[in-house]
Amino acid sequence: MSPFHLTRTLPEDATGAALRADVLNGLTRTPKTLPPKWFYDALGSALFDRITELPEYYPTRAEREILLGRAAEIAAASGARTLVELGSGSSDKTRHLLDAMPGLHAYVPVDVSESALRQAGEALVAERPGLEVHALIADFTAGIRLPETPGPRLVAFLGGTIGNLVPEERAAFLTSVRALLAPGDALLLGTDLVKDEGVLVAAYDDAAGVTAAFNKNVLSVMNRELGADFDPGAFDHVAVWDAEREWIEMRLRSRTAQTVKVPALDLAVDFAAGEELRTEVSAKFRREGVKAELATAGLNLTHWWTDAEGRFALSLSVAG
Ligand SMILES: C[S@@+](CC[C@H](N)C(=O)[O-])C[C@H]1O[C@@H](n2cnc3c(N)ncnc32)[C@H](O)[C@@H]1O
Repeated sequence: MSPFHLTRTLPEDATGAALRADVLNGLTRTPKTLPPKWFYDALGSALFDRITELPEYYPTRAEREILLGRAAEIAAASGARTLVELGSGSSDKTRHLLDAMPGLHAYVPVDVSESALRQAGEALVAERPGLEVHALIADFTAGIRLPETPGPRLVAFLGGTIGNLVPEERAAFLTSVRALLAPGDALLLGTDLVKDEGVLVAAYDDAAGVTAAFNKNVLSVMNRELGADFDPGAFDHVAVWDAEREWIEMRLRSRTAQTVKVPALDLAVDFAAGEELRTEVSAKFRREGVKAELATAGLNLTHWWTDAEGRFALSLSVAG
């Protein structure tokens, strides 16, 4: 079996310190917000995997369709010997890419979720003798340092996760990705596309309530990590389409006027009845917008593929 390396690139208490800073900043502002990366403890990662199988959640199936049809083309265009994947989660769809890259030397999954990295990495080295897996526990918005592995590199960012960043964050993020690319390297980017509002909202508010449980999981993370006393039953899951900004917002709406204590921050947070805490944005894209954002970061779009229904796009770009 080939080696599985798991590296924590964050300092020991970085996750705790970052959570405290984000919660303090996010819950003391108006409107209240939290960054989506805090959904993904072991339970949150498992709930996300269940979301990808829901009938309403089309992005995973649409992106898989493109990967299945285009993996050989992507592999040939990139000629990659190292595949880096940001926000890799279960690495499930990535297997279609790996299948098309028999000469690949190393796979570098990067995620904040240690449980997801361990599960995926251990399975991959068992399945694929000869492939080195260097997993990085890291925050891809905080700048990452990649291990020394052979080039060219293909950096994949799948699942439409880029939509979880607001435009200013996306610009900074794409610039940091551009800085990772040497001549000959490429970026493979998955973007969910603008479509009918009903289809979009249903994808974030499924009938079985899995997305609601995923959304409320962030309250359990704050209870466990910061000693907070959020009652998940006192909040409702909300998904709305913002037509102007072309993004879905997930929110948690307080059912009553309530005060929540966060002892680790010595903080008491007041919620008015009906007040909402924004927990995620998921931006939807158009080809021209993706091309322009890439260009601003110094990346030239070379390929654009969509699924047959035009719901989701994968693009390939190279440093300009
Ligand atoms: C929407 S899921 C997508 C998972 C997988 N790529 C897919 O396409 O199904 C987002 C993934 O990114 C990870 N993630 C979210 N924010 C992150 C951050 N700032 N740094 C590193 N990983 C992050 C989560 O743990 C999760 O595995």
